[in-house]
Amino acid sequence: MMPPLPGMIGTSEPMVRLYRLARLVAPRLTTVLVTGPTGSGKELVARALHKLSPRANRPFAVVNCAAIPEALLESELFGYVRGAFTGAVQSQVGRVQAAQGGTLFLDEIGDLPLSLQSKLLRFLEQKEIQRLGSPEVFRVDVRVIAATNSDLGQRVVSHEFRKDLYYRLSAFPLELPPLAARGSDILPLARFFIASLAASTHSAAPTLDQSAIRMLERHNWPGNVRELQQVLERAYILAEDGPEILPEHICFSSGVADRQPFPSRKALGA
Ligand SMILES: Nc1ncnc2c1ncn2[C@@H]1O[C@H](COP(=O)(O)OP(=O)(O)OP(=O)(O)O)[C@@H](O)[C@H]1O
Ligand SMILES: [Mg+2]
Repeated sequence: MMPPLPGMIGTSEPMVRLYRLARLVAPRLTTVLVTGPTGSGKELVARALHKLSPRANRPFAVVNCAAIPEALLESELFGYVRGAFTGAVQSQVGRVQAAQGGTLFLDEIGDLPLSLQSKLLRFLEQKEIQRLGSPEVFRVDVRVIAATNSDLGQRVVSHEFRKDLYYRLSAFPLELPPLAARGSDILPLARFFIASLAASTHSAAPTLDQSAIRMLERHNWPGNVRELQQVLERAYILAEDGPEILPEHICFSSGVADRQPFPSRKALGA
């Protein structure tokens, strides 16, 4: 039996398949593209790949391509030298170089502006970077893991994402199924979250009442594992240290959880 990845709960069939693929690719230098809907565990998988690699004791650097304004993203990634632009009073190492010897996690890669896609591709192919404002070329040894909840293939069709970068990134795709497609994981995940909540307050963990379990198993979880975690956090508080979590402690905030964690660049009009 394939054990879950470090920090991950659930032994449903699609997850066991994912664990197997992840364990195969983890020790390699291969670029991995982790896809899946919001809250499905993409970042957890990326961190597990790093932990299971020979780079585990080296840095794990995260860049959220949707959260950093386009104008800052290039200097954030590749660094800059003094005088490269107004306000660049001293040189700064970028996140790529900061990940030297380790792993660079490019989150929300679908939001990477076209202007930077060619620069990222060049770095992936040549393993070299140039800081803004400097002709000096640095060799970097960095393993790249990217994640997205958008359909990158679709973005290629609509000319928002470079085809060559798409192929380069998806050398080894890992797709997380939505929580609704791994029903047998719901209860173990719920118990895991309740146990962690109880442990954090040094209390005994309440049990889940049978009808509460049925409610959890019937819900369609548009916000996936993150939504389950939040529903249980609320339920745990509402149960007021009682011995049992009951149906009245469980409330789903419909329609909220399936929103994007960040407004996309498009939504911001950028
Ligand atoms: N299999 C799992 N076992 C335990 N915890 C999990 C699992 N999957 C996800 N989680 C937890 O659920 C939350 C959401 O996971 P994560 O941040 O990895 O999702 P994501 O796919 O990156 O979401 P987003 O698309 O919104 O960025 C985290 O708190 C994470 O620890
Ligand atoms: Mg994430």
